[in-house]
Amino acid sequence: MIIHLIAGARPNFMKVAPLWHALSRAPWAQPVLVHTGQHYDETMSGVFLSQLGLPTPRHSLEVGSGSHAVQTAGIMVAYEQLCARVRPDFTVVVGDVNSTLACALVCAKRLIPLGHLEAGLRSGDRSMPEEINRLVTDAIADLLWTPSEDGDRNLLREGVAAERIERVGNIMIDCFELQRNAIETARKALEFGLKPRSYGVVTLHRPSNVDDRAQLEVLVQAMNKVSRHVPLIFPAHPRTMNRLKSHKLDEMIAPAITMTTPLDYVSFMSLVSDALLVITDSGGVQEETTYLDIPCLTLRSNTERPVTITEGTNELVDVSNLSAAVERVTSNRWKHSRRLQFWDGRTAERVVASLSRWRSTHVR
Ligand code: UD1
Repeated sequence: MIIHLIAGARPNFMKVAPLWHALSRAPWAQPVLVHTGQHYDETMSGVFLSQLGLPTPRHSLEVGSGSHAVQTAGIMVAYEQLCARVRPDFTVVVGDVNSTLACALVCAKRLIPLGHLEAGLRSGDRSMPEEINRLVTDAIADLLWTPSEDGDRNLLREGVAAERIERVGNIMIDCFELQRNAIETARKALEFGLKPRSYGVVTLHRPSNVDDRAQLEVLVQAMNKVSRHVPLIFPAHPRTMNRLKSHKLDEMIAPAITMTTPLDYVSFMSLVSDALLVITDSGGVQEETTYLDIPCLTLRSNTERPVTITEGTNELVDVSNLSAAVERVTSNRWKHSRRLQFWDGRTAERVVASLSRWRSTHVR
């Protein structure tokens, strides 16, 4: 059974890697890695392939950046041409990026069976491009693999048939567990001259936070204020770095904030593991911090990952209450996380079992 695994943007590689390894061990499966090229910088793509033990992608669509329509349509055209040449028996898309949506649409139109890993997450905010990608992908996928119970509930509410939904857990935790030894020995903080549990890690890249100059300036001021109490390290996404430079806000950043280029997975998780706190607008980082019991201050007004708030260390903040939240962390008044069901490093195994069951009823 030839199974396309679609990866395009940075967070996809962490989700595809554990599944790639698990499928490679299944005698009936032939996983084929397809890279759409949504992310193309070495620091956003290549370094993850090599570090997570992924092979050179069998197919590279090399679509690159563009507006949503240009990027999504470019991936669709390229992936449809690929499927016309070498039709897979099954395609797996992960997460909620434009590559996820584009390849899902191609599969639906060409009647290629489709599985969505990380299905069912909803922020309820349709101004986020990712929410549209999630809604459409889940409406057309054949198998929906959810990370947590809220995912099942969201899908059922939207009318998805119960037999298409399977709760498999959080694949990001598989990736962490596969790299745990490397992460625990990396000691990245020391390289940056930071003492464990004394610093914060910042990641920001959502258009709603970084695209508008006034909003970004207010955020830089808020970070500068935090850095007077807690030194920060800020590996900046290319989108964020471009905006900081073009708005000349990079010159305003306080010296207690260490700016770096995007980091590889092991270095980044090493920094997060030893951090006092994390300030972010990323989806995956909300989950990783909950797993590691590190306080997570999410600069967004909503999240598609509510279990990280109800069961974990995550809290939604804005610039007006960020400093007070940091103060609660430094004075040891932050909540701790509980263990979440199926966040156990065995999600890829459950997806392989699900695919094997699907195969036994659909493939002669
Ligand atoms: C995309 C995803 C977002 C995810 C994020 C993780 C969508 C709609 N958004 O956002 O959900 O959280 O990836 O990083 O799919 N750029 C480079 N080099 C690269 C990639 C991007 O310089 O390798 C720059 C380009 O200027 C590009 C911009 O970053 O236009 C934005 O990239 P894009 O892929 O459009 O969206 P992200 O903001 O990365």
